[in-house]
Amino acid sequence: MANPTDAAGITFERVGDYAFARPTQRREDCPECGGTGLVRTRTQQNGREYDLVAPCGHATLQRRATSFNAARLPAVQAQATLETYKPSNAEQHRALQVAKEFAFRWPQLRGFVLSGPVGTGKTHLLCATLKHLAIELGVKVSYVEISLLYSQIRRGFQDGKSGGEIIGPLSTVDVLAIDELGKGRGSQFELETLDELIARRYNAGKVTLFATNYSLKPPEERAQRGYFGTETALEAGKDSKLLCDRVGDRIYSRLCEMCDFVEFPGATPDMRRSPQLAGRKRG
Ligand SMILES: Nc1ncnc2c1ncn2[C@@H]1O[C@H](COP(=O)(O)OP(=O)(O)O)[C@@H](O)[C@H]1O
Ligand SMILES: [Mg+2]
Repeated sequence: MANPTDAAGITFERVGDYAFARPTQRREDCPECGGTGLVRTRTQQNGREYDLVAPCGHATLQRRATSFNAARLPAVQAQATLETYKPSNAEQHRALQVAKEFAFRWPQLRGFVLSGPVGTGKTHLLCATLKHLAIELGVKVSYVEISLLYSQIRRGFQDGKSGGEIIGPLSTVDVLAIDELGKGRGSQFELETLDELIARRYNAGKVTLFATNYSLKPPEERAQRGYFGTETALEAGKDSKLLCDRVGDRIYSRLCEMCDFVEFPGATPDMRRSPQLAGRKRG
């Protein structure tokens, strides 16, 4: 479903599994360039006149739309914006505020982690933040659902690719959103992959955003105290509701350093079950 009234001059729709952006106007109808993609201006410097050639407004929109499309946001979030997020409690208000500050005050040194039950708009907020950065500011962003990344790496192994080759591009993008953190089998392979991705981004000074269904409570909340390395997180995390158990203490500790935490209460309503959303056309 396209949104032709988008103020930025870009239309968002669902194409296959991903959200897709394109300039609302066709290039040949661009009043600035008449279809060439370039505008010519004259400028004066030290008494001499120069011709300058620059991309037209349409070309800039096209470049940002292409960059947004490369981020591979889920199709269902094609229309998600910060403006359409409606908080229903104090924690969701805070999440919206944190996301807006991150987006509107870019560049940032710290990211954020959103934790809460399903259907509370965590993925919506991640995608809306990435959309703002990519479309309004031309920032290079990417989105990945963690268990899909693990299966992509496993498939890559069969084609002779190393895990590093696959996470390479995700390590260098300006802002990466990692969704469903803590999901998966919690195997040593998965935790090492995640650890490497987070460490590479951290070392490169890149900001990462996260969403998870697991609680952000600290390791002290565990019934049995003690250090959980990534190797032992598999056993420890199997039935735990705590993110620190699911990802191990090392990754959890990095998250504390890199991100602000927002946790929604268990009673936050699942919007997928709201009559308003249930009536919305899927496609
Ligand atoms: N507070 C909210 N305001 C507006 N839409 C919401 C809100 N919470 C959820 N939604 C919508 O409900 C659907 C499910 O939200 P999603 O972000 O996938 O939830 P989560 O990632 O927390 O499971 C999406 O279509 C999303 O746009
Ligand atoms: Mg989600």
